[in-house]
Amino acid sequence: MNAPKRTAARPVVRVTRRLPEAVEQALAERFDARFNTDDAPFTPEQLSAALRDSDAVLCTVTDRITTQVIAAGTPVRARILANFGVGTNHIAIGAAHDAGITVTNTPGVLTDDTADLAILLMLAVMRRAGEGERELRAGRWSGWRPTHLMGARLTGKTLGIVGPGRIGSAVAKRAHGGFGMRVLAWSRSARALDPSTGIERVPTLEALLAASDVVSLHCPATPETRHLIDAAALSVMRPHAVLINTARGDVVDEAALVEALRARRIAGAGLDVYEAEPLVHPGLVDRDDVVLLPHLGSATRESREAMGMRALANLTEFFDGRDPPDVVS
Ligand code: DGY
Repeated sequence: MNAPKRTAARPVVRVTRRLPEAVEQALAERFDARFNTDDAPFTPEQLSAALRDSDAVLCTVTDRITTQVIAAGTPVRARILANFGVGTNHIAIGAAHDAGITVTNTPGVLTDDTADLAILLMLAVMRRAGEGERELRAGRWSGWRPTHLMGARLTGKTLGIVGPGRIGSAVAKRAHGGFGMRVLAWSRSARALDPSTGIERVPTLEALLAASDVVSLHCPATPETRHLIDAAALSVMRPHAVLINTARGDVVDEAALVEALRARRIAGAGLDVYEAEPLVHPGLVDRDDVVLLPHLGSATRESREAMGMRALANLTEFFDGRDPPDVVS
């Protein structure tokens, strides 16, 4: 890492999206912060310019910082990319490192809210909450009846966690402790599991898919996990099972998911993330067995402020000449 000593001139920090007010204030107190007042996502040209006219860029998941953006044109001036968020699949990390740029993220502070949202999606899909809300708002509700919108019970079912890291483990704790669920998990790495989560490890993804009533995705988006849930994986799931994705859209082959839902190979899906955000596969939008949220996993005031303060802490440590706490290697 190439951390400069603090100088009299305040480092220029380009902030690519509007942030909670308290975070923008704190950034402006410490840095020469340049804000994106109209909040429009940066184009590749604007991102490339930001890397060349600023000492740091505070970016988000909507900024595709590709090898071309980093390598195009004159050498970069930016020495640190402080990502507002834990996932960094939108950043070409290798190219950033080659250009001498340190990359940081904001782990830990959004774990509980993202785990809560995964549970919300499980309940919403299984209890048909989206369908019910749409029916009522459209004036189509004719009153209570014993056979109306019967869903499936979440309590006591088997949950399969793909990627039992921080967020996956937090979901497991809620499911096991709060809903009495049996929790299975599979991951590519054999990391140690927190015994308080009640998780049982299974040896293969197929074993997890075949045994679960709910499959919830919590692995990072990497070349290895792209389309991990494809047509073959979906065909192993149980016909009454539902798929929940609060991780990254790339992990699921959306076209294969639409096909599996149409063919009733699985019973439903709850999605917060998509392959080509903000576009959503048209085959998902008009389905009643799918609940769709617009990437809200960390969208609480508490998480978003904490994410901003964490990005600020990474920038502050870096420009004070110390190692930032959340360097992405
Ligand atoms: C994350 O932290 O990765 C969220 O999805 C927002 O980027």
